[in-house]
Amino acid sequence: MRPPYVLKADGLAAGKGVLILDHLQEAKDELKAMLGDSKFGKAGEKVVIEEFLDGIEVSMFVLTDGKNYKILPEAKDYKRIGDGDKGLNTGGMGAVSPVPFVDASFVHKVEEQIIKPTIRGLAEEKINYRGFIFIGLMNVGGEPKVIEYNCRMGDPETEAVVPRIQNDFLALMQATATQQLDKIDFKIDSRTAATVVMVSGGYPGNFEKGYTIKNLDQGSDTIVFHAGTKMNGKDVVTNGGRVLAITSLGNSIEEALQKSYAAAHHINYDYAYYRKDIGQDLISLIK
Ligand code: GLY
Repeated sequence: MRPPYVLKADGLAAGKGVLILDHLQEAKDELKAMLGDSKFGKAGEKVVIEEFLDGIEVSMFVLTDGKNYKILPEAKDYKRIGDGDKGLNTGGMGAVSPVPFVDASFVHKVEEQIIKPTIRGLAEEKINYRGFIFIGLMNVGGEPKVIEYNCRMGDPETEAVVPRIQNDFLALMQATATQQLDKIDFKIDSRTAATVVMVSGGYPGNFEKGYTIKNLDQGSDTIVFHAGTKMNGKDVVTNGGRVLAITSLGNSIEEALQKSYAAAHHINYDYAYYRKDIGQDLISLIK
């Protein structure tokens, strides 16, 4: 195994149970501290030694009825509060779909190495699962490596993925429930969706609520999803940390972003904040 070495307390350690170490001796000492000296208490009674993954994350989604499946559009999300993915973690500050490096060859690898074995494994374990599977992946030199699985869609990936699905969504859900996904002709909008999340100033720390939101009406290529809002008389007011998710469709990442940022700029409430760099890493990948 090559450095860096990743040691992970297998129990719950409030997000602090992972050590990334450059030297083997250091890794051995820390392993001893975790297992022998209870460095992470009960959480470190079992330690997982993991491969260090260096790459770009992507979220892939599958809809399965237990027998058949459809691969949904992928997305990249932006988790931290500050530009350059700096600062505290949030519920999600933006997303872009599709992701340029997810080409046919990458999807084929994901399908053969991860999706098919997952669907097969559910059947073998007699788990009658019908719904979404969210596979959090890292692209390590063109190879997909699984970071996490979830039995749900992602947030804010959903806000970028669902607008690209052209099928009637209820029909999709009915086909999933009745194991008829194989009869569905799945149609995806080839345009790019870019989502920018507007939050309350101070989030994910302390923030004030109750500010009136103005200029919510947008053009037809832009959807404004409400998260932390409520009605106060005739006004829509802020009522949470993440307030709105603004998704626009465009013929390129740049065009989709330009529309979402124009909307974010136009929508107005006191102490509004949003990241200014959503999608910039993907644009530099294709340049
Ligand atoms: N955006 C990551 C998640 O929904 O877990």
